[in-house]
Amino acid sequence: MRISTGETHANNDIDSVNLADPCFFGLGDPHPIWTRLRDHAPVYRQCPRASTPEFWAVTRYDDVARVLGQHGEFTAARGNILTTLGETDIAGGKMLAVTDPPLHGRLKAPLAPRLSKQAVRELEPALRELTRRVLAPGASPETWDFAAQAAFYPIGIAGLLLGIPERSWAGLTSATYAAVAESDPDYAQPGAARSAVLSRAHSEIFLYFHTEVARPDRAEADDLIGALLRAARDDAALTREEVILNAYSLLIGATVTTSHVASAGLLALLENPAEHARWLATGDTPALVEEILRWASPANHALRHTTKEVRMHGTIIGAGQPVSAWLGSANRDERVFPDPFRFSVDRRPNRHIAFGVGAHRCLGAHVARLALNVLFDEIGRNFERIELAGEPRHLQSTFIAGIKNLPVRTVPRPGGPALGEQRALSRTVEGDP
Ligand code: HEM
Repeated sequence: MRISTGETHANNDIDSVNLADPCFFGLGDPHPIWTRLRDHAPVYRQCPRASTPEFWAVTRYDDVARVLGQHGEFTAARGNILTTLGETDIAGGKMLAVTDPPLHGRLKAPLAPRLSKQAVRELEPALRELTRRVLAPGASPETWDFAAQAAFYPIGIAGLLLGIPERSWAGLTSATYAAVAESDPDYAQPGAARSAVLSRAHSEIFLYFHTEVARPDRAEADDLIGALLRAARDDAALTREEVILNAYSLLIGATVTTSHVASAGLLALLENPAEHARWLATGDTPALVEEILRWASPANHALRHTTKEVRMHGTIIGAGQPVSAWLGSANRDERVFPDPFRFSVDRRPNRHIAFGVGAHRCLGAHVARLALNVLFDEIGRNFERIELAGEPRHLQSTFIAGIKNLPVRTVPRPGGPALGEQRALSRTVEGDP
């Protein structure tokens, strides 16, 4: 999905929109349509198209916050993304993202303390080391692909949190990308149906965690899988299946979002040189990161189903209906953000909801924030100049707004901190011990 514009688009006719079509996001710019929906059809009924049944769409900030935050009216247990629409989500009631309170609290309890703001601070040195490896190709004058490098940052973060060894990073990264963008030509297999690509990606990830939790000493590890396994063993609070499902949820949550924010953020800086200069002058990286999160909103939408008849803007939505809440649109709602299509590195206040709202608000928000602050801090310290060196390529996914390729040329800052190992992560992970 293209992230930045908001200018007119050839296809901004509300009646022709198909919010369930990944090509719409990969090849086009959804912002003009979202703006029209916010203004003219804030509660929009998307007609059934191809294999996708009918669903509702809300695009205004307050409505998105209500759908995601009011679990009495809207349940997550029947699936939280559009690609599962019409199917029974087998993880419902067992995996964090698709379980309603109070059951949801039982799954969250072993994880939340380890992902608190306080707890994740300890990760900063490891994140800085990882960042320098991500940025290492920037030490040479040749063109390099920032997005391809950045794709390995979140799996490194997930590796730290879940104890995933580096030799498994490349395989798990491809599987998680295929799991959220199964129609993207880079992940689809020729002749294979979308469902086959999805199911292969899911099987690879599940097999990995299945093998992990079967290891006899795994519960002793000082990481999130260890914490889940101890909750299963000591308090019988979780089943083994729930441990695997929630490890999967953490991996997907971590990998498919953070790198896209990084690429979208860098692209926004390159497209707005005055803002880039302003950030370098003030050094206010925390404000920059919040604006990048608002701008990028990588989790495009989240899905819920009504638990009862619900009225929104005079429209009645019957009980049991699917309602998609578009976070990318909410974060550009002019009712909340003055001049929302302006990328402003010191926007304050900045009440973006890129991490969601309510009980399901992102469990990895503190670690993602810290990781992005470290990454942009290192970008600022290391590079005197960064230029776009080719066309960015966007991911085809209804769920994730992302960039697959971002070719850049960089000029290192003289006397800046030494970039880490001078090797590209993407080229080396396969063979590492
Ligand atoms: C910039 C990066 C990230 C963004 C924008 C993001 C966004 C989101 C959003 C919008 C949700 C709510 C979905 C819903 O309401 O259905 C969510 C949930 C979740 N995220 Fe993230 N996420 C990010 C990074 C991470 C990381 C690094 C992790 C892992 C450590 C993670 C793990 C999760 C989990 C486990 C959930 C489910 C929480 C629950 O249902 O209680 N996320 N994320």
